[in-house]
Amino acid sequence: MFLDGLYRLAKPILFSLDAETSHSVALQTLRVCAPLMSNPASLNEVTIAGIAFKNKVGLAAGFDKDGIALLGLAKLGFGFLEVGTVTRVSQSGNPKPRMTRIPENNAIINRMGFNNRGVDEVCRNIARFKSRLKIPIGVNIGRSATTSNEDAIGDYEFCLNRAKDIADYITVNISSPNTIGLRELSDLEYVGSFLDRLIQCRDEISRDAKKLPIFVKISPDDEPVAITQLSKSIRDVGCDGIIATNTTIRRDYIDASYSDEKGGLSGEPLFQLACKTIEIVRNSVGTDFPIIGVGGVDSPAKATSMLNAGANLLQLYTSLIYEGPALVGQISRAIAT
Ligand code: FNR
Repeated sequence: MFLDGLYRLAKPILFSLDAETSHSVALQTLRVCAPLMSNPASLNEVTIAGIAFKNKVGLAAGFDKDGIALLGLAKLGFGFLEVGTVTRVSQSGNPKPRMTRIPENNAIINRMGFNNRGVDEVCRNIARFKSRLKIPIGVNIGRSATTSNEDAIGDYEFCLNRAKDIADYITVNISSPNTIGLRELSDLEYVGSFLDRLIQCRDEISRDAKKLPIFVKISPDDEPVAITQLSKSIRDVGCDGIIATNTTIRRDYIDASYSDEKGGLSGEPLFQLACKTIEIVRNSVGTDFPIIGVGGVDSPAKATSMLNAGANLLQLYTSLIYEGPALVGQISRAIAT
């Protein structure tokens, strides 16, 4: 693949730049090169939550937050793409630097804080390419840094309303560790009524049409009993699936020199924890409830393990940085056979 050759040549240069700059370079390259890339063969199409995914390997949220490189990303062979997290209006996120590579562990710590151009601009970006993409697009929504948790439902309803006509599914992000207090939205005392209001909003806007699927993205950092209860609440309130997991705030898997680095850890050190979380979720929600697995998948073998842990679909982020774009096709081909 032309882009993989380019990645191999450029990797030393990309890794000499700071992590966020090299990410922007990679995204812009994908955007510009999209017309030169060929369309991937579709294999292993699967229908989950009423959505026809082109294959089981998707792009995780945060990689293309604003949806600027969707055409190039689709041509890498993903079966679906998730944009965002988007918020009600544009925001700049946390101060830089906010993304650290840990090459010895094929990992990243990030504290981006939902830097994005706001739901309206991101939906316009998706709309520009939607008819040519031919794969499902999820829109991951969150609350603004300046909105309190008491008012958060308004932000989520606003984003849901704005994205409803362009998204194939919505992901409710209540698990990012980088927006202060956000994870409290998944506390068991509140989460049921919070999600119930969102489901009512979804049902109202899709009264005559097909219901827009709503997935909830969860953290790997809760105790097993809390994960069990949260998963059941998400299912019982009428959501359509769970995305497990977001990044972890645990640091016991990496060198102690990173213990003060604030943010969420992703990549290889997250893999076992993500699989364990998926197992707990699967045991809690039964065999039929959709689960999208994400966290540290960097090879066909790990993709298979995560599917065996109970995931129906997978997403990648950090492994793309370390392994390059050919990984998407390698995994989707391997798990198709
Ligand atoms: C993320 N992730 C993320 N998740 C989310 O729901 N909304 C977001 O805006 C972001 N932003 C983000 C930025 C960066 C720099 C990284 C590395 C990650 C989390 C991501 O979607 C995924 O859940 C984790 O990274 C675990 O998967 P990987 O990276 O180990 O494959």
